[in-house]
Amino acid sequence: MSSTRERIMALLAANSDSYISGQSISDQLKISRTAVWKQMKVLKEDGYLIEAIPNKGYRIISTPTKLSENTLQWGLNTNWLGKSIEFFEEIDSTQTKANILAQQGCNHGTVVIANKQEAGRGRMNRTWYSNNEDGIWMSIVLRPKVLPAHAPQFTLLTGTVLADVLSKKTELDIRIKWPNDLFIGDKKVAGILTEMQAEQDQIQHLVIGIGINVNQLTSELPDEIINKATSLREETSHVYSIRELIQAVLHAFEKAYDRYLDTGFSEIKTNWENRGYKMNENVTYHSGNVQSQGIIKGINEDGALLVQNSHNQIITLYSAEIDW
Ligand code: BTN
Repeated sequence: MSSTRERIMALLAANSDSYISGQSISDQLKISRTAVWKQMKVLKEDGYLIEAIPNKGYRIISTPTKLSENTLQWGLNTNWLGKSIEFFEEIDSTQTKANILAQQGCNHGTVVIANKQEAGRGRMNRTWYSNNEDGIWMSIVLRPKVLPAHAPQFTLLTGTVLADVLSKKTELDIRIKWPNDLFIGDKKVAGILTEMQAEQDQIQHLVIGIGINVNQLTSELPDEIINKATSLREETSHVYSIRELIQAVLHAFEKAYDRYLDTGFSEIKTNWENRGYKMNENVTYHSGNVQSQGIIKGINEDGALLVQNSHNQIITLYSAEIDW
């Protein structure tokens, strides 16, 4: 059951174009008028701008821009994802925290978000630069009832969700570089890190970590990635609301996840292939010590890359180095 504060926030959010009377809030939440007034006072102290007009009621004018558990919940229109949000001003890694919470039995759909990470982690034990408040650093805990072999499909699903949401918000052509980087032109703007705990025939939990460079300027990035990374702001000269972007990602993710469980993987595969970086282009790849050339044709259900070689055969690459 959500708290009184959350329920008041939900009512105000649902009525943000009009006024809602203190009496109506009091009736709907079965609390006294004084309790309504006290809650409004606390919201105002937290930075919410609330207009109160006698004989009309309350109306929300604006929410604080700073991220917090409350502002993240404000206007989040999901059914199960992010119903529980753990927010941290600063943390080592949301991924590490989400894994701990998952071990302790937290709910499916729990989301861990931080303003800053001191020890953000990327794939292959790489460092993920996130010691700033200008990006989205979040990890989602999922408990899908599917075989562990299907886990890579969730990473591909996440890639398509991010490409869809970011393309829509920025009107840029965002591409998914295999296996799971989001690219604008030839620069990385976001990355996905999926970790799993499983038994032989069942996933216990998945933690999907999402890092997106949003409002950084390239000049603020560390030297080693300055030429390889970009941000939404850098590409569009627009400063984005981190809160709105997080909510858009969570909303789209929930929809895509529910649809995947209903209808299977084929839509995601098609979507991924429409968004794939260098699709149908010739690339050089190294598999073991052998260097070859081929044309990228798509992905299979295991998340492997399909490449057509010079003999017109389709090769399945699970872990090749590709000269992008
Ligand atoms: C990659 O591109 O290698 C994956 C990057 C994933 C970064 C995210 S940020 C939120 C979550 N917490 C982490 O420490 N890593 C992931």
